[in-house]
This record gives sequence, structure tokens and C-alpha cells, in this order.
Amino acid sequence: MCVCRASRRASKVAEIHGGAIGSRSSAERLLDESSDNETASQELSEVPLRRWGQGSQRKHRHSMFFPIYVDVSSLAIKEVGDPIALDSAPDFTAKDRLSPVWPIDKNNIERRWRYGKEGVERELKNGLLKAVREAGRIEIKHLEAPTEFFLPKTLWLNKAFSGARGAGFLKAILGTDDAFSYPKSPYVVQELIRCVTHDKPAAIILDFFAGSGTTLHATVLMNAEDGGKRQCLLVTNNEVEEKRARELQKQGLRPGDSEYEKAGICQNVTWPRCKYSLNGVRDDGTVLAGSYVNGRELKDGFDENIQFFSLAFVDPALVERGDAFEGVLPILWLIAGAIGERESRRGSTPWYIATHSPFAVLIRETKFNEFRKALRDRTDIRCVFLVTDSDDNFAAMRRELGRRYRSIQLYKSYLDNFRINAVDKRAAGDDANSE
Ligand SMILES: C[S@@+](CC[C@H](N)C(=O)[O-])C[C@H]1O[C@@H](n2cnc3c(N)ncnc32)[C@H](O)[C@@H]1O
Repeated sequence: MCVCRASRRASKVAEIHGGAIGSRSSAERLLDESSDNETASQELSEVPLRRWGQGSQRKHRHSMFFPIYVDVSSLAIKEVGDPIALDSAPDFTAKDRLSPVWPIDKNNIERRWRYGKEGVERELKNGLLKAVREAGRIEIKHLEAPTEFFLPKTLWLNKAFSGARGAGFLKAILGTDDAFSYPKSPYVVQELIRCVTHDKPAAIILDFFAGSGTTLHATVLMNAEDGGKRQCLLVTNNEVEEKRARELQKQGLRPGDSEYEKAGICQNVTWPRCKYSLNGVRDDGTVLAGSYVNGRELKDGFDENIQFFSLAFVDPALVERGDAFEGVLPILWLIAGAIGERESRRGSTPWYIATHSPFAVLIRETKFNEFRKALRDRTDIRCVFLVTDSDDNFAAMRRELGRRYRSIQLYKSYLDNFRINAVDKRAAGDDANSE
């Protein structure tokens, strides 16, 4: 069932019924070329620029913690300061008559703004920020059009959505214009993402036929715009385009040869495109040129991290011997939220506590008590994997750890944890094994 924003301007072409929701104030900017500035003449409401609720603290996005300088007598916003390191204390010293306003709430909790510095400067330039006095404090307000529902149109007409724009991006990022045929414009995919996730800033977006990687690019553009923390998972094979495959085969190269595989879509396009656009620079040091429609420069890259995984077959005998820990670790990192830098470990120690991510693994269950003590030093750990084949032992350990952690059982034969569409031997009993 489709619930869409903005009934005021019904579609001139047709309405789509597909479960999309769009926000008039943002999506329609690109979605409607014939926009007549109606939004600007609407009455705007004042919404705090400081975030509140889940994910709103400084530690959640420290690049959105910076001062906004306000003239204390006229309440004019004059300047936007730089974000500071997470371990630095905010400076409250006034500069001339300009007082710094930090996104700290009345209970002294360090929160963050709804936009990064670039976004705040943009909104300021557009006249959409205002400083007010409230309960003896200066608060920054964002002026927003009231939320309305609308039905996105069937035809989206905007030059920014054209395939040529997609091809232009690929060329700017990869430096070649024949890497991928007909890539989509990231803006059109961004609008699709906005339709479905405008109110879900922590959404996980999956594209299992990733092609040139437009979906990831669109996700980070969306995050940069609204300060969201959406994650994106791309999956692709590494197929070589037909004509190129014939050329390579004439040279005696075959699928599986590293020279052949380098020409595949994943190695040649998806991975480098995603990595370079996040870093703002190619691996050879070439800084990306050009800018996005909102003025953000390609060279600035994005805040998100990125990891590349290659799916491979594993030898079940290795897994049975418990030698597959290293191979399974990336999956655990993903389950725990794909946060921080990923590490590689052999699993030869009784437990493993990730250095940069909020998860830990108890590898030898007999060491549970020591493991629990070690966890005390890491208050950020949220997810605990317990390797045991005994459901009872798992239940007991989970009880001891308490609700503070998300406890997940891992069978010693790690493969069993991620098996899908297969008979559960434990549930089916031995009869199933004998067939
Ligand atoms: C039409 S393209 C996607 C285009 C992409 N959304 C874009 O705009 O850049 C489909 C992609 O799916 C990949 N693909 C095809 N079969 C696949 C499979 N079985 N598993 C994973 N990826 C596959 C192909 O390599 C191709 O690049």
C-alpha cells in the first residue's frame, strides 16, 4: 500500500502505487522540474538544528559537532566553525561579540547538529537558519516547510537523472569512459532511496546486482545530505563484458587468470568506483575533479568506511578443525554493525575482543569467567559471540552476561551458523543424517 507525501500537487502524468514515500521539501526539488517555488512561500516551521533522540550524540557523528558563531546583540548567525576531534573539549570563548553555540542540550549532553559543516553553511546561505533566545540560552533553529505527503510521478524529468550524468560520474571517478555501459545517475537512485528511507536514517540498503556501484554512491550522497547513517551492501559477480572477454581469450587468458579477472566488473569498476568516490582520490593519487549538484566537491569524499569481501569456497575439513575463524571474522564484524576498522585474527587465543568494533568472541567456552572480566574494560562492546555447540551452555552464558549485550551463539563448525535452505541436523535428529 502506497503512503506518499504531498497530496496538494497530484501527479500530472500518473501516480505510482509501489510503497514509496517522498518528502516534499527535499525530494520534490529534483523530482519536479517545473517547481514554481511554492515551498518558499509556505509558512515555515522552526525546528531545532540540534539533533535529539537515538543517534543524536556527539560520539555518534563527531564531524557534526562544531560551533556556530552568533552575534549576541542582533542574534545574527555570522560564522560556522570547524568540527573538533572527539577527545577535544568545546571552546566557549567568545570571539569579538560572537558567541559560539555548540549542539549541547540544556542537560549538558553533547549532541550534534542535523547537518555537517557544509550543510549548515548551505542552509545558512539559503536563509534557513535562525538564532533565538530560549530559557536564557541561544538556540539555533532550522526553518522547514511543513511535512506533506505526495505521490512521486511516474516520469522523473530532470537532467540530473539522465544516464549521461551516470556516465559522466564514472569517467570523473575512474578516468575512463568505457568502463561500464549505461550506468544510472546516482541522483535518480538517491531519490529512490529518499522515497523509502527519508525517515529511516539507519536503513540498510542492499543491491545484489550492483553493477557500477551507483547505489552505494547514492546512499552516501543521501547520508551527507541529512546526516543519516544508512549502510549499503553491494553484491556483484566479476563478469567480463562480452567483447573484452573475446579479446582476452584471443590473448590466451581464461576466467580465473588474474589478468582476466582484473577486467571483470567488480575489480575494474564496482570496487574502485566505490573506494575512490568515498576517498575523493584514486589509488594512483589523482584527486577527483568536479562537483555534485549541491556544490559538494568530489575530492572531499565521504565520511563512510568501506570494506571489500570476496566470497570463496571453504574446505569443510578446515572448518571442522576450527581453522576457519579468520574467514568467519568479517561476517561477525558485519553482524556487529560494520563499525570501525576490521581486523584479521587466527582465532588461536581463548577469546577475541575487536580493537575498533563493538564486538567480542569467546572462542574457548571454558574461559568464560576470564572473558567476562576482560569485557569489563571495554564498555563499548555490544555484541558477544559465544562459540559453543551446547544450547544449554549458551543459554547459561547469555544469562550471566545479561541484557547489556546481544549474545549470539556460534557453533564450533562455523559453517553451520550461516547455512541456509538446508536441513537443520540438530533439529531433525540423527535420522536426517543417515539419509
Ligand atoms: C544492470 S547491472 C546493474 C547496474 C547498476 N545498478 C548501475 O546502475 O550501475 C547488473 C549487474 O549484475 C551483475 N550480475 C549479473 N549476474 C549476477 C549474479 N548471478 N550475481 C551477482 N551479480 C550478478 C552483473 O555483473 C551486472 O553488472
